[in-house]
Amino acid sequence: MVIWNFLFSCVPFGSTTHTEATMKLHPLGLFLLSCTWLLLCAAAPVTVRAGIRREAEALVNWKASLVSADDSLGSWSLANSTSLCKWTHITCNSAGHMTELLLMQTSLNGTLDRFDFSAFPHLKSLTLFSNGLYGTIPAGIGNLTSLAQLYIFNNTSLRGAIPHSIGQLKHLSELYLSLLGLDSNLPEEIGNLTTLEELHLHSVTLTGSIPRTIGKLVKLRELSMQKNNLTGSIPLEIGNITQLNNLQLWYNYLQGQLPGTISNLASLQELVLTGNQLGGHIISEFGNSSLLDTVDIERNNFSGLFPSSICIGGRLRIVSARSNGFTGIHHHTFRNCTSVRYVDFTANNIVADIKDCVGEHPWQLSMMSLGQNHLYGRLLTDGGKVFICNSTYLTFLDLSNNLLDGGLPKCLWDMPSLGYMDLSSNSFSGVVPSWKTCEDNLICLRLANNHLKGTFPLGLRKCKNLISLDLGGNNFSGRIPSWISKSLPNLIVLRLSSNMFGGIIPHQILKFQQLHVLDLSKNNLSGPIPDNFTNFTGMVHNAEDIVSDNNLRFEIISGQTQIVWKGADHGFPILMVGIVGIDLSGNSLSQEIPKGLTTLLGLRYLNLSGNHLLGCIPEDIGNLVLLESLDLSLNRLSGEIPPSFAGLKSITALNLSSNNLSGLIPMSDQLRTLPDPSIYSNNPGLCGFPLEGCVDSPTSTQSGMSQAEDNREALWLYCFVAAGFIFGFWLYCGMFWFYSETWRCAFYQYVDNMQGKVTKKMYSCMSYFQAKVHG
Ligand SMILES: *[C@@H]1O[C@H](CO)[C@@H](O)[C@H](O)[C@H]1NC(C)=O
Ligand SMILES: *[C@@H]1O[C@H](CO)[C@@H](O)[C@H](O)[C@H]1NC(C)=O
Ligand SMILES: *[C@@H]1O[C@H](CO)[C@@H](O)[C@H](O)[C@H]1NC(C)=O
Ligand SMILES: *[C@@H]1O[C@H](CO)[C@@H](O)[C@H](O)[C@H]1NC(C)=O
Ligand SMILES: *[C@@H]1O[C@H](CO)[C@@H](O)[C@H](O)[C@H]1NC(C)=O
Ligand SMILES: *[C@@H]1O[C@H](CO)[C@@H](O)[C@H](O)[C@H]1NC(C)=O
Ligand SMILES: *[C@@H]1O[C@H](CO)[C@@H](O)[C@H](O)[C@H]1NC(C)=O
Ligand SMILES: *[C@@H]1O[C@H](CO)[C@@H](O)[C@H](O)[C@H]1NC(C)=O
Ligand SMILES: *[C@@H]1O[C@H](CO)[C@@H](O)[C@H](O)[C@H]1NC(C)=O
Ligand SMILES: *[C@@H]1O[C@H](CO)[C@@H](O)[C@H](O)[C@H]1NC(C)=O
Ligand SMILES: *[C@@H]1O[C@H](CO)[C@@H](O)[C@H](O)[C@H]1NC(C)=O
Repeated sequence: MVIWNFLFSCVPFGSTTHTEATMKLHPLGLFLLSCTWLLLCAAAPVTVRAGIRREAEALVNWKASLVSADDSLGSWSLANSTSLCKWTHITCNSAGHMTELLLMQTSLNGTLDRFDFSAFPHLKSLTLFSNGLYGTIPAGIGNLTSLAQLYIFNNTSLRGAIPHSIGQLKHLSELYLSLLGLDSNLPEEIGNLTTLEELHLHSVTLTGSIPRTIGKLVKLRELSMQKNNLTGSIPLEIGNITQLNNLQLWYNYLQGQLPGTISNLASLQELVLTGNQLGGHIISEFGNSSLLDTVDIERNNFSGLFPSSICIGGRLRIVSARSNGFTGIHHHTFRNCTSVRYVDFTANNIVADIKDCVGEHPWQLSMMSLGQNHLYGRLLTDGGKVFICNSTYLTFLDLSNNLLDGGLPKCLWDMPSLGYMDLSSNSFSGVVPSWKTCEDNLICLRLANNHLKGTFPLGLRKCKNLISLDLGGNNFSGRIPSWISKSLPNLIVLRLSSNMFGGIIPHQILKFQQLHVLDLSKNNLSGPIPDNFTNFTGMVHNAEDIVSDNNLRFEIISGQTQIVWKGADHGFPILMVGIVGIDLSGNSLSQEIPKGLTTLLGLRYLNLSGNHLLGCIPEDIGNLVLLESLDLSLNRLSGEIPPSFAGLKSITALNLSSNNLSGLIPMSDQLRTLPDPSIYSNNPGLCGFPLEGCVDSPTSTQSGMSQAEDNREALWLYCFVAAGFIFGFWLYCGMFWFYSETWRCAFYQYVDNMQGKVTKKMYSCMSYFQAKVHG
């Protein structure tokens, strides 16, 4: 069998040509030829053996050039060269030639410079992934004339260019050059690889534009060139790759329009162009491929109407067109789209009635995101029909930041799969309907910034898996229910700000064990801040620790919440950033700041501004070393700022203005970075950096000055005042006796000036004195 193979493989020309030639020859010629043939075949094993030896030598030489490799290359040795096929990582054909080299994750460190590619004319498959190759890809790689599969990926230290000789690999069907550290154009010669079926060139980094010769790869099925620095436009010739079913060009710098020839790609299943600078209109025929499954064109500049034929193939599952400039969706586009699962048009300029964006048939839809557009209309149609509730598989619904109005339909709460619902920043009105069940799936509910009214929605009592609840910016009133922490034990974010909630804060609010964000600001809450923080454990640790422990679902992590800190409004993907904070500002809360607050070591912001809080700042405030933003302004806090205050080493936004604080402001390197005196203003007795008039005064340097010293100072002050008075009196009277009119006037003026100066000095002295006495 082996011999037969040798015989076969030694025939230098195609065997059919040879047979034809044989037929026409004279018998003698035939005899001579037969002899030659026999001789050649006898020599064949020798040639083969020489070939194999060259392969073995090439491998051993290359191995010797490596800086290091793991033990698995141990069998590569010339002493073993007769059994090349038994070497590790190698596959042979029956003639004993290497046809496959598979070296992956061998902690191999070295270059390909000493790899003699021309020694392997039989190599069909070369795999060198997840190694430590550095240097460049040598031009000699073009000598692997039988190569069908080339996998060199995840060698991030490989530099330089893709060699032009790559075009010589005439039999190549799969080329994977991904996750490398290159810096080059894709050479035009790529178009010579006309047998190529898969081309993967992601994260390499390619620069320049996509060569037009790419259109010659008519057998190509997969093309991925994402995460490169490609510029220029997508060439028209792309439309010639009619077998293409997967096109990935995301995260590049591609510009211009999507070529119209794209609609020739009748086999296209997946098109991903996210994160480029493509723009203009997309031709309306686009998407008529009967196999089209995924269209992801997020974060480009596409405009105009979204192509209406996108659903014609009947297989479309995913459409993501977030962050573009589309102005409309044709009302037929999704009408018959029964296959679609995920639709995201967030942040476009779509002006449309909501019911035209959504099909009428029961959908398989599991995610739908239409936020940040100009959608209008109502969820509850005039006939009382609610189209959205037909979507029994819907898990994600984002209609935020639109112009929707009317009431909220009851059925929304009974959708069996819904996990994330964001209806915030619309004009929904009325009361939140109560609901029978709250499905276990609902974990994030945002109804903020609408015109909803009524009491705290009672139906929420059943939503025991809720993690994030935002009812801010509505007209809710009544009390915050005491059942809240017991019924919603998993809450991480609770935002009720800017409503009309009244009464006291129920002490049960401190029974939440996971809460990271508590925002009750701008309501009519009164009474004390509850003070039993023993079970309030969500804010005790650095939030990053907590988040990594939680196996939270994607939509929650990507969901945003609105918080105010460092004086500005922010939308935060809360759990990613690990924001932890309390905002009770803008209420009528009274009594002291509870000392237990200083045990919440994970706090990154605390805002108690605009209440009626009394007493001192808690002595241990400095324990809050992660605190970045602290606002206690507009209260009635008094006493000195505790020395531990200097321990707030993360503080970057501070406001203590408009209280009755007094004494010296503690100082630290971090506090010194906050030089704006207004953050301490309107506290009559406060002094020290950055306030003026105190830092240089020798009498104001120590807050613990003794009573005796104080008294002596007071005595001196009185003496000065008395002496001044006597002196002035005598001068005033004396001049009637001794001097003429003109002299008298000049003298009056002089004394007037002096008096002004003395009064000013005395006033500042007195106010300091007063402050001391009160403090
Ligand atoms: C030859 O290869 C075998 C495994 O195929 C290996 O065990 C042996 O150590 C090798 N011999 C030498 C001299 O490297
Ligand atoms: C490979 O070897 C070079 C030269 O010794 C060394 O600088 C480099 O750090 C090594 N790379 C790896 C991944 O070990
Ligand atoms: C191998 O490739 C290089 C570069 O393409 C070329 O110069 C050289 O002649 C080739 N060697 C053989 C033996 O084919
Ligand atoms: C690719 O683009 C990024 C961002 O513009 C840049 O930092 C990087 O240096 C570029 N890489 C190459 C190889 O051009
Ligand atoms: C290979 O590609 C180059 C550049 O596109 C072209 O000039 C050349 O003719 C091609 N060679 C073959 C053999 O097709
Ligand atoms: C490839 O596409 C271009 C532009 O779309 C076209 O002019 C050309 O004829 C096509 N080539 C082939 C071989 O189909
Ligand atoms: C899609 O539209 C293009 C351009 O109108 C057309 O050439 C092509 O045949 C159509 N393909 C299918 C599958 O309908
Ligand atoms: C939707 O489907 C109906 C019935 O199958 C069909 O009559 C209608 O033309 C389709 N509409 C679109 C826009 O494809
Ligand atoms: C809340 O209700 C009051 C009166 O009932 C109304 O004036 C105000 O506009 C409402 N606020 C919002 C945000 O709807
Ligand atoms: C504290 O809250 C008030 C009112 O709610 C707001 O104006 C202020 O900017 C907040 N302070 C900080 C530091 O965020
Ligand atoms: C501090 O708070 C007061 C009262 O809340 C506010 O008017 C002022 O703008 C704030 N100052 C800074 C610097 O935030």
